[in-house]
Amino acid sequence: MMEMFDRVAAGEKSICVIGLGYVGLPIALEFAKKFNVVGFDINPERVALMQQGIDPSKEIEAAEFAGRKIRFTADAGEIQECGVYIVAVPTPINDANEPDLTPLLGASRTVGNAISKGDYVIYESTTYPGCTEEDCVPIIEELSGLKAVADFKVGYSPERINPGDKARPLPKILKIVSGCDEESLRNISKLYGSIIEAGIHEATTIKVAEAAKIIENTQRDVNISLMNELSMIFNKMNINTFDVIEAAGTKWNFHKYTPGLVGGHCIGVDPYYLLHKAEMLGLHPRVIAAGRFTNDSMAAHIAQVAIKKLNALGKVVKDSRILIMGATFKENVADIRNSKIVDIVNELKAFSVNVEVVDPHASSEELMHEYGFSLTEGIKGPYDGIILAVSHEEYTHLESDWFATHTKPDGFVLDLKGLYRHQQGKMQRDYWCL
Ligand SMILES: NC(=O)c1ccc[n+]([C@@H]2O[C@H](COP(=O)([O-])OP(=O)(O)OC[C@H]3O[C@@H](n4cnc5c(N)ncnc54)[C@H](O)[C@@H]3O)[C@@H](O)[C@H]2O)c1
Repeated sequence: MMEMFDRVAAGEKSICVIGLGYVGLPIALEFAKKFNVVGFDINPERVALMQQGIDPSKEIEAAEFAGRKIRFTADAGEIQECGVYIVAVPTPINDANEPDLTPLLGASRTVGNAISKGDYVIYESTTYPGCTEEDCVPIIEELSGLKAVADFKVGYSPERINPGDKARPLPKILKIVSGCDEESLRNISKLYGSIIEAGIHEATTIKVAEAAKIIENTQRDVNISLMNELSMIFNKMNINTFDVIEAAGTKWNFHKYTPGLVGGHCIGVDPYYLLHKAEMLGLHPRVIAAGRFTNDSMAAHIAQVAIKKLNALGKVVKDSRILIMGATFKENVADIRNSKIVDIVNELKAFSVNVEVVDPHASSEELMHEYGFSLTEGIKGPYDGIILAVSHEEYTHLESDWFATHTKPDGFVLDLKGLYRHQQGKMQRDYWCL
């Protein structure tokens, strides 16, 4: 009997990608260069856009949809003929910073209702070790009446795609794969190996693959938190942290991380998944939790720096105007999910500061919908202070007199990314960076 990869390659079976966001859509389109693909998403509005060749996440050009063997649907009844189900739904946290498995368990129900004997399910969503086999697979088994391993195969292949990073498209990122047995590992490895040019790493178990992904982001979070802590120490001493990192970075084994806001749906979220699992096991990892606390405190810290500067200048805080440049969670993307800029805005507004926000990538309507404020049209200075918050390409090459033009003579510039620290002499304004 033909194995799953050969059946997909022969066009006998289709691949269904469940959840077509930043992760799911690129993987679906990449597979659709070679194989028959069904893209399923519960959001009919997003599906309608994709049917017209429009990426709702604004990452993929219309030309990338052309000639692909893919159809998009929001109807779970249309996915039952598929042979491989790839789950790429969100794994957010709730208000108490605990994993919210609603989308993942919902997608598992969709798979459970569609799957047949001999099919595969591969999870790509980031989650804690054990989640695939302990939380998701039992749902599929219950709804399908099938047994994992014996009747259907399970795998986990974490996603490493970096939205906004045009130098690292999906095929250029080495992919970890795992399976529930030798046969599934072989087939999953071949499947991804057929679209990933950078190579495949076969993890020994599904839990290893889950854990590998979660520690990639946890390590990054903890390292950034260390830089944030150092930045607070060095600021008190009038030492520029970015200069310190540049100097220390000349040593072969120093890892260069920079201080900053940690927003988005990965680095600031994933460590909470690991913390949750550890706590379920009676462990209380202090380093990971401390890193989260420090990074989550940075927005309030930055707002306080601004308020202190306004006070030091003798300004009436409630009459002051501050411009924030950048609203997205990171540079050169439109994604505003878990943007920590929002926390700066709210903290400044709590002091009655008049805050205006500009961003060439973010959607004003989305910001209003999610966070209750919209973007200012045009820069209407002079401001009492500017917070350069996100290093969008558009903000990295401003003339040194740009800030003087848009701030009052006694105004200040908070450059969170340290972009203009070498030009502060020419800036003619009070300059501060993290
Ligand atoms: N965005 C990234 O940079 C990135 C990188 C690596 C890993 N990840 C991980 O990949 C996963 C997906 O993240 P994303 O950024 O693509 O999310 P996203 O929010 O961009 O997209 C998720 C899509 O899933 C759909 N969806 C939600 N529940 C569903 C369900 N039950 N059935 C079908 N569709 C459903 C949504 O409508 C949406 O279109 C998460 O676990 C995330 O942590 C994300």
